[in-house]
Amino acid sequence: MTTVRRTVLVTGGAGYIGSHAALALAERGYRPLVLDNLSKGHHEPIEQALGAPVIQADTRDRAALDAIFARERIDAVMHFAAFIEVGESVADPLRYYENNVSGTVTLLQAMQAAGVGTFVFSSTCATYGVPEVIPIPEDHPQNPLNPYGRSKLVVEAILSECETAWGLRSVSFRYFNAAGAHPSGLLGEDHDPETHLIPLVLHAALGKRPSIRIFGEDYDTPDGTCIRDYVHVSDLADAHVLGLEYLLGGGASMAVNLGNGRGFSVREVIAAAERVTGRTIVVEKAARRAGDSPALVGSSERARTRLGWSPRYPELETIIAHAWAWHQKKHG
Ligand SMILES: NC(=O)c1ccc[n+]([C@@H]2O[C@H](COP(=O)([O-])OP(=O)(O)OC[C@H]3O[C@@H](n4cnc5c(N)ncnc54)[C@H](O)[C@@H]3O)[C@@H](O)[C@H]2O)c1
Repeated sequence: MTTVRRTVLVTGGAGYIGSHAALALAERGYRPLVLDNLSKGHHEPIEQALGAPVIQADTRDRAALDAIFARERIDAVMHFAAFIEVGESVADPLRYYENNVSGTVTLLQAMQAAGVGTFVFSSTCATYGVPEVIPIPEDHPQNPLNPYGRSKLVVEAILSECETAWGLRSVSFRYFNAAGAHPSGLLGEDHDPETHLIPLVLHAALGKRPSIRIFGEDYDTPDGTCIRDYVHVSDLADAHVLGLEYLLGGGASMAVNLGNGRGFSVREVIAAAERVTGRTIVVEKAARRAGDSPALVGSSERARTRLGWSPRYPELETIIAHAWAWHQKKHG
């Protein structure tokens, strides 16, 4: 008897986190179908890793989605496709609502029409805004500080309304700072423009940029620099498979934080990167940026208790070492 592999549509699967999730799905016996408009993503690494082509399509293109749902027997959708730059969302909010909200609405319409009701969504800790407590639990008030965070919060609300209306079941993962690269070196973080601290620090270590700027050293934190919660991208990918299996097993919709449960300051990240790379990283001091919280650290208790998730790579140095191996391969 042959077992039928479950098919999962992975939107944004040519991007950083989506590509890791697509590979994790394949490794666990699922059939990932990667859909990406390639506005930001890179098709070669994930095509090589999966041995299957990326479907080049846009989540806002209803006809293209309908054709895919008609052609393939899709069991569930993992939805990573979105624009992700906070600053750009402040400058051009409508572009963010158009892609992140309208794109999701169109995708959900196609799912509803095709009778697909299982959805894993990439939300973000940016939906919380300024934390009232650390570590941040899922029932913390959600007051996003920018259109990017609000676009994700709006989708969370839409998912709950679709559940009431037509029975959609979803897990919304609120990631903290995704970091690292696939331990095999096959996949890594390749954003343009890059705004995330660890790749920027590694670019400085590689000499691709002269220095790294620290925005504010007078925060109320032990060394005065901002603290963030860095979670390995392969651990995020594992959580997505667990979230999918939870839903396929009949689990109720929920929002789940994905973080390391502990934070590292900008200074700690730079020091760890110097140890991992063996190179000196030149630091430039800069003024605080508007809207930066002193510390953002999530509680991942719910992911542990309800999904049985625990990070395989919680150590900052391991996260940076995997990212460094990938950056050296790509740019070194
Ligand atoms: N990187 C992080 O630390 C982080 C933190 C919290 C949440 N998230 C969320 O995780 C998801 C993935 O983030 P990432 O860092 O991998 O970003 P990414 O830019 O690497 O990946 C997003 C992918 O989506 C594709 N895409 C964008 N709009 C599309 C559309 N309309 N149709 C089809 N494809 C489209 C892009 O081409 C890209 O490949 C995003 O939804 C993001 O908001 C990321």
